[in-house]
Amino acid sequence: MALVSYPEILVAVIFFLFIGGFCSKKGVPWNWPIVGMFAGLLFHVHRIHDEAAEILEKTGCTFLFKGPWFCNMDMLGTTDPANVHYIMSSNFSNFPKGTEFRKMFEVLGDGIFNADGESWRNQRKLGQSMINNPRFHRFLAKVTYNKVEKGLVPLLDHLSEQGRVVDLQDVFQRLTFDTTCMLVTGFDTKCLSIEFPEVPFATALEDVEEAVFYRHALPETLWRLLRWLGIGKEKKLRKGWKTLDHTIAEYISMKREELSKGITKLREDEDGADLLTSYMTEDNAIGLKCDGKFLRDTILNFMIAGRDTTSSALTWFFWLVSKNPLVESKIREEIETAIPEKEDRKGRHIFKTEGLNKLVYLHAAMCEALRLYPPVPFQHKAPIQPDVLPSGHKVDPKMKIFFPVYAMGRMTAIWGKDCLEFKPERWISELGKIKHEPSYKFFSFNAGPRTCIGKEVAFTQMKAVAATIIHNYHVEMVKGHHVAPNVSIILYMKRGFKVRVSKRWGG
Ligand code: HEM
Repeated sequence: MALVSYPEILVAVIFFLFIGGFCSKKGVPWNWPIVGMFAGLLFHVHRIHDEAAEILEKTGCTFLFKGPWFCNMDMLGTTDPANVHYIMSSNFSNFPKGTEFRKMFEVLGDGIFNADGESWRNQRKLGQSMINNPRFHRFLAKVTYNKVEKGLVPLLDHLSEQGRVVDLQDVFQRLTFDTTCMLVTGFDTKCLSIEFPEVPFATALEDVEEAVFYRHALPETLWRLLRWLGIGKEKKLRKGWKTLDHTIAEYISMKREELSKGITKLREDEDGADLLTSYMTEDNAIGLKCDGKFLRDTILNFMIAGRDTTSSALTWFFWLVSKNPLVESKIREEIETAIPEKEDRKGRHIFKTEGLNKLVYLHAAMCEALRLYPPVPFQHKAPIQPDVLPSGHKVDPKMKIFFPVYAMGRMTAIWGKDCLEFKPERWISELGKIKHEPSYKFFSFNAGPRTCIGKEVAFTQMKAVAATIIHNYHVEMVKGHHVAPNVSIILYMKRGFKVRVSKRWGG
């Protein structure tokens, strides 16, 4: 319960804003009476990822952020791989997602992201068995190829013929929204089209994610007050939540109808099957009850997991490649080897997902983009019992432990002096194979028992999209366009990625 009222804190914050003292001489935020380091946080919130990287570089990878008094906002930020390994793997049981996490992400219901203990274990087992099933992989290959061939390529052809500027980030968000919705529910939202339609389901997801981010930056009592008043981001959250519930309920009922008519069953053996069909038709040995609420939460969790992460990764990858012509030409050279010899390698080609897995340089360039621009830029945990981390820092249940994943990819201590450079070569061994980096160092897909289960799904889609675009088009960023990360739970470009696309081959 807060003893200091928020108006008082606000006055203190404004006072400190005017006197301008946020950082001490060492470049770390001042710890002020009452507001702690919160004033500094507010002042730097627009560039919070880089600010965190700079502070952690200066403080040797671990830093205690003091929140306002009595607000339970003390946070230990750490990029130390030993701490990450300890929390995510070796002492995993003391660091569940916990109730704090669930409160902020309450829109996700009891889905896998929010779950702990047995519920999480069962959902993970079932989710993994669905994703690793060959029939899902057949479906993934088909959905990806179709979307690239019938959605992406016609759109890029159209844009290049018109010479129009396009926000490539928007294109990728639309593409992965369609593919993820297809993979998860079997229904195509047709977001990706020349008309750039507004799709309420997609807008609702964006609004919900933004509101959840703001819950991380505000004391709980404040976002609860905003929720109660129904204003600000909390208003957007409420509206978005309703749209999500409504749309997902429709998908479930459409699927029930399809299944009862036998439409889905007829197609699935040959073409594979979406996750919703699998959840609704397969008896699971684990005994999870796949009722309406479970299906709603599962669909939403998978949509959030798969869609935004993959489009964010593609956007940053293309920006980095467009700035590094040498890397681009190496990727081009390599992807040509995936075109069958009987075909013209200097002509138009749409890549299937098969055959791209052997491309080492493309994979390395993607890992490098994911290191510098991790789609999930931060994570947090809280211990159940007081604990001491390998770095020597004491943590207790009242304290949050923050992992600024964006900062982790930029630590000299972890990646060396050239850590800020985009160098796919760092991922390639002397034998020309992909160099494995442990997940507590390359943390973009999480580490330990909660490692992302969709990593291969993401790489499969990203490679098919990247190979097809890089082989068939020139992508050039519009002159003067300013690229900077946004502030949300997913790392996007604040002003989008404005480019011009032109065809490499005639026809
Ligand atoms: C570049 C793309 C992706 C990135 C960077 C990524 C990253 C992550 C991260 C950081 C987590 C941990 C989140 C947390 O615990 O709060 C996670 C978990 C998860 N991811 Fe991914 N992901 C990607 C794509 C996908 C895709 C395509 C799917 C599904 C088709 C997926 C499914 C999941 C699931 C179900 C979890 C929860 C695992 C658990 O809690 O046990 N991800 N992912």
